[in-house]
Amino acid sequence: QKLQLNLEEIEKGGYDHFMLKEIYEQPKAITDTYRGRLLRDQAIIKMSGVEDNMKKFLNANRIIIVACGTSWHAGLVAEYIFEDLARIPVEVEYASEFRYRNPVIREDDVLIAISQSGETADTLAAIKLAKSKGAFVFGICNVVGSSIARETHAGAYTHAGPEIGVASTKAFTTQITVLTLMALRLARAKGTITSSDYHRHLLELEMIPDKVKKALKSDNHIKIIADIYKDATNCLYLGRGYNFPVALEGALKLKEISYIHAEGYPAAEMKHGPIALIDENMPVIVIATKKGHYEKVVSNIQEIKSRKGKIIGIVTQGDEQVRELADHVIEVPETLESLSPLLTTIPLQLLSYHIAVMLGKNVDQPRNLAKSVTVE
Ligand code: G6P
Repeated sequence: QKLQLNLEEIEKGGYDHFMLKEIYEQPKAITDTYRGRLLRDQAIIKMSGVEDNMKKFLNANRIIIVACGTSWHAGLVAEYIFEDLARIPVEVEYASEFRYRNPVIREDDVLIAISQSGETADTLAAIKLAKSKGAFVFGICNVVGSSIARETHAGAYTHAGPEIGVASTKAFTTQITVLTLMALRLARAKGTITSSDYHRHLLELEMIPDKVKKALKSDNHIKIIADIYKDATNCLYLGRGYNFPVALEGALKLKEISYIHAEGYPAAEMKHGPIALIDENMPVIVIATKKGHYEKVVSNIQEIKSRKGKIIGIVTQGDEQVRELADHVIEVPETLESLSPLLTTIPLQLLSYHIAVMLGKNVDQPRNLAKSVTVE
């Protein structure tokens, strides 16, 4: 047993938990994901699974994305990217709902299944259903040779390396990286992106790992914020556009490992319900980066402030407006709006991690949860 423990310590590479190690591995994991695929000098994105099936993608009537949990959140981010850049209609579905509601699937539909483990039962069943209706099925998995990787017609691996912590971190950001590469490749092929926009995306995407490193530097500051809010019983996460799914993911991370009730909401929907919950005991984490509905999110922040809610703003470096209104701000480097989820996610992962550690929870193996859910 002692040997076993030591082995685990070695695997953790000096970090207290796998989750923290995996959060810190993200700059490398994202680089590994685009290595050999993003060839900026040649202005090329090379993904054989996409290239070999280009006709299917270009003729697609729509893309249906199916996934569960965190992977479903990556799918939601992809909806914004694919529609924005490649102008292909996208629907994102929980695999468990999709498979049981007699969905309309046509031969010119492309189904993208996203799964870290490649073993999630509902996602696997959704793939089989889509295949039986003649759709082309593309898989995005982390685990090489997994059931979903084998069951799909083509795919792309995330190359995040093994993810041990039950709460998914680097799998999420690398899934978004793969989906961004795909959207850019398809946008280029369809001519829906200008050459300068395309190049700017390649350049910015290449800079993301360094910017993630910078975002990780807020760790100690986030720890202080975690200490202030660790005893909260509820938390609200708000975001808009590309950062709405990030709000959902932030809330999920907190729920999963700290057992604090948290909800993610599109910022503009706040007035249709959650605003009723806001009082001086409600921490509200608002993603308010400069690009993407900034002014609108600022007015949401004003509404929260006037109801005495506690505001933690995730802002672009150098932001002044939100800093004045919020109780705390956490800065992330500036990037394109479409790439911002890769940065805004980082402080939310760290915030839940520190809260869970401070509450003495089992961060890597939270109660009642499994890393891969192979039964319904
Ligand atoms: C479980 C895990 C989550 C994961 C979800 C989907 O609930 O605890 O972290 O996001 O399954 O898993 P998958 O392997 O399909 O991405």
